[in-house]
Amino acid sequence: MTTPTLDYQSGFRNHFASEALPGALPQGQNSPQRCPYGLYAEQFTGSAFTSPRHQNLRSWLYRIRPSVAQSAYRPLDTARVATAPLARPAADPNQMRWDPMPLPETGTDFLDGLLSVAVNGDAGTQAGCGVHLYAINRDMLERFFYNADGELLIVPQLGTLRLRTEFGELEVASGEIAAIPRGVKFQVRLGDGVDAARGYVCENYGAPFELPGLGPIGANGLANPRDFLSPVAAYEDLAGDFELVAKFSGRFWSARLDHSPLDVVAWHGNVAPYKYDLATFNTINTVSFDHPDPSIFTVLTSPSDTPGMANIDFVIFPPRWMVAENTFRPPYFHRNLMSEFMGLIHGEYDAKAEGFLPGGASLHNCMSPHGPDAETFEKASECELTPQYQGATMAFMFESRYVYHPTEAALNADFRQRDYVDVWAGMKSHFDPENR
Ligand SMILES: [Fe+2]
Repeated sequence: MTTPTLDYQSGFRNHFASEALPGALPQGQNSPQRCPYGLYAEQFTGSAFTSPRHQNLRSWLYRIRPSVAQSAYRPLDTARVATAPLARPAADPNQMRWDPMPLPETGTDFLDGLLSVAVNGDAGTQAGCGVHLYAINRDMLERFFYNADGELLIVPQLGTLRLRTEFGELEVASGEIAAIPRGVKFQVRLGDGVDAARGYVCENYGAPFELPGLGPIGANGLANPRDFLSPVAAYEDLAGDFELVAKFSGRFWSARLDHSPLDVVAWHGNVAPYKYDLATFNTINTVSFDHPDPSIFTVLTSPSDTPGMANIDFVIFPPRWMVAENTFRPPYFHRNLMSEFMGLIHGEYDAKAEGFLPGGASLHNCMSPHGPDAETFEKASECELTPQYQGATMAFMFESRYVYHPTEAALNADFRQRDYVDVWAGMKSHFDPENR
């Protein structure tokens, strides 16, 4: 039996309460001697018990069977998915770029379709992240997944995904993002009528993503809390032979279950999966001259122990008006302390004339120079500066204080652009000491 789904609750880390059967949530306490409907109570924490109140994350799940009702784990082959630190670290200062990962030709589900591109930090000390691509054409049916190494931020580029989680279901289209908290069991299926899907995953080993502080911006702007949607409780009471795959300490592990783990009838608490439509981002930018730094486009941030230096910032480059006067309008040339992994969801990115495709990716590590290509520079230096709408575009960045180490699979991939650095080959001198 399965309950109807796809209703949402709005808010970011609200203390939600949801029940798929009336009266399934115990009232006034979390773990009564006997729960309604004969359910088991199970606490799920997203923070240490003693984390400060504003960072304290926990939910109570009321389920048909507790999570302990599973077999022992045995290790699985994990060849395509890497975890930091790599056995043979491969960071180098070269700028790198990749074409979109090809869609699979044989049946490939979300777990089989993941490929790690770059990792940084150290999962064991809860610092850094793994960046993965996925390209899939098959539903996860009898298997489920959870990740003990990190929270998953999923950025679909092609095709809608249906994320069936313990907390309920999320349908996530290209242009939306979803976060699955560390440890939450879920299954990925293709949306209705979708044959194949592709996208990006940030596996955040560190502090869970939160909304950035707004400082002088004030109370409104950027990603507004009410636009974050969490599922309502939905369950299935299914017997059968099911597999639960766990990512734990850099490896995949498999356990057997004689029932679906999506058997949570009711839950309450402030840790839950959520989704967010990037089109609801309230974009703030200059109305006079020059560029604010791209931190003005931060959707979510995972703080590190050093204030202001993110473990990871999730930053977007959304549709926006360009009105800056007497300004070179594309992103400036730069060398940054923070390391940048970029992807493109759709459209064109305004610093590159060509070569950076939807589904593609680029990597610019700490202090490696980058910026507009020669063609973009020449054009943007000459064009008339009328108000201009930079529409139909959505690029994003996983920006981190930790240097990214590309995986061997990413370095050797057929879809890596080995000549990427040549986009800046045409940079010529315009210098003339006689002519200011
Ligand atoms: Fe950059």
